Amino acid sequence: MTSRAWHTRPVPGRTLTALRIDAGDVVLRKARDSDRDAIIAHASDPEVRAHLGGAQSRRDVARDLDEVGVSAVTGSPGAYLIADTASDAFVGTMSLTRRGVHHPGHVSPDGEELELAYTLSPRAWGRGWAFQAATAVLRAAAAELPDEPVIIVTHSANDRSLNLARRLGFEPATTFDEHGVQQTLAVVNLREFARA
Ligand SMILES: CC(C)(COP(=O)(O)OP(=O)(O)OC[C@H]1O[C@@H](n2cnc3c(N)ncnc32)[C@H](O)[C@@H]1OP(=O)(O)O)[C@@H](O)C(=O)NCCC(=O)NCCS
Repeated sequence: MTSRAWHTRPVPGRTLTALRIDAGDVVLRKARDSDRDAIIAHASDPEVRAHLGGAQSRRDVARDLDEVGVSAVTGSPGAYLIADTASDAFVGTMSLTRRGVHHPGHVSPDGEELELAYTLSPRAWGRGWAFQAATAVLRAAAAELPDEPVIIVTHSANDRSLNLARRLGFEPATTFDEHGVQQTLAVVNLREFARA
């Protein structure tokens, strides 16, 4: 995921069309104006951003967000906020979108693979919520799309992210450098999430 996800241009190609996915303790949904302050706090949180290019100042994040509007954060198909099912409050972000060929790191010759990305607020870490959200997203995708590889690209030093990828069944396939940092690309086939 880039430093300002809502500024990325969606890569054409099929992904999930659902606007809401229930995932047990959490729900994947689109962003609303009432999420504004939580989104700003999240994008400027140094712990969340440690492996995502570092935190931006709250002022810059707020200015950028207000420029595009809160709904733009999840404007692309396959882009969601993660919310606490009990309170509907923002706890993070998750997306299943296409990785553009201009980025390094691919498993298909034509690129544009489905790429899973996630961020969770540190107060929600260690509860299995990212796992629940990712499992629900991948199951919904497997029900809607033909089988194809899904990738996760994450800093090789991002243990929590790599652990989550491993628990989901992703296997490390390659490493490469992006922005001077070693990245690990892990892959799984979407069919692994198809319900029998
Ligand atoms: C990557 C990230 C989402 C992982 O969050 P997480 O909470 O560790 O991930 P999970 O949802 O898989 O939860 C796993 C933890 O919950 C625990 N857990 C509790 N109940 C659980 C359950 N029912 N199911 C699974 N795990 C459960 C696990 O034991 C594990 O605990 P541990 O951290 O002590 O090992 C989070 O660290 C993050 O947002 N990091 C910053 C953003 C980032 O770098 N994103 C990656 C870019 S792609």
